[in-house]
Amino acid sequence: MRVFVAGATGAIGSPLIAQLLEKGHHVIALTRSLEKAQTLAQQGVEPAIADVFDADAVQAAISRAQPDVVIEQLTSLPKTYTNESMQAAAALNDRIRREGGANVLKASLAAGVRRYLMQSIGFWAVPGAGLADEETPLALDASPAVADGTRTVNELEHRLLTTPNIEGIVLRYGFFYGPGTWYAPDGDVAQQVRQQQFPIIGNGEGVWSWIHIEDAAAATVAAVDRGNSGIYLIADDRPLEVRVWLSAYAQWLNTLPPPHVSVEQALRISGADAVYYGTQMRGVSNAKAKRELNFQARPLEWMVNAAVARIS
Ligand SMILES: NC(=O)c1ccc[n+]([C@@H]2O[C@H](COP(=O)([O-])OP(=O)(O)OC[C@H]3O[C@@H](n4cnc5c(N)ncnc54)[C@H](OP(=O)(O)O)[C@@H]3O)[C@@H](O)[C@H]2O)c1
Repeated sequence: MRVFVAGATGAIGSPLIAQLLEKGHHVIALTRSLEKAQTLAQQGVEPAIADVFDADAVQAAISRAQPDVVIEQLTSLPKTYTNESMQAAAALNDRIRREGGANVLKASLAAGVRRYLMQSIGFWAVPGAGLADEETPLALDASPAVADGTRTVNELEHRLLTTPNIEGIVLRYGFFYGPGTWYAPDGDVAQQVRQQQFPIIGNGEGVWSWIHIEDAAAATVAAVDRGNSGIYLIADDRPLEVRVWLSAYAQWLNTLPPPHVSVEQALRISGADAVYYGTQMRGVSNAKAKRELNFQARPLEWMVNAAVARIS
């Protein structure tokens, strides 16, 4: 199949391209950079050079590519994962997804694309007991940045899923880990954990859902020709409380256990979003993706040798 990827050079884009090629797809990849275009071409990918904010250029690129399927993995996120860096990136990231994504979707419709896969976020379900699924509402009333992000995600998902004449697939990924992510041993969070700057907040009961970047790519490749229009949660089998995964992560990094701070201290030092992530976040079920995409995920890398309780 002819598959066009926007966001082909990011953390998920790279393994995604490799796996699409392995499956025998013809891959056309969007990038702004001539240098990255050359690297893509060496991999056997047909590069398309355009800025996603340039609607005419995007239209021309997709019209030339004539893809069967478009995969949108556009983000603009920093290499560091801190309140400050995420806040600084938020406006452009939002614009890339809303405006850039709109350009890619419009051009796809004009080119008669059959199926459209879009990156979304799997960790913003409304807090509550047990695991969330695709029907669980999003946390629109959460802490400020989460609520903003959730509103954007809600609108983007709705835009795609109500667009006629195209099969829209929303892939709500859990937290990425693996090469090129914040949680790789050379990534920013690993560094913060080594420096004792990533604490367990309160009782550490926020439940995180994880996905190795290679497994996220594999689920996306599966969704090129499997599954129905709608939302899929792509996360591993074992969502974990922060106090569990963070302690094991520090051990895996061969560093000191994470410090503990109270909710009041964290609110003062790190703000409401950090408290939300640390204490309220809800894990998700991957049952639908397993059923309909034949999805399988490896266990969280740093939990393999750790003994923990299952959250369900
Ligand atoms: N679920 C999650 O946990 C999640 C989700 C996403 C990202 N992240 C994390 O965020 C960090 C950074 O991720 P990343 O490397 O994927 O992000 P990134 O640097 O935000 O890059 C994403 C992709 O978007 C493309 N892009 C951005 N702006 C564009 C524009 N104006 N026009 C065309 N293309 C544009 C880039 O293409 P070019 O630069 O080639 O033009 C690149 O391929 C990583 O640690 C990652 O794990 C986490």
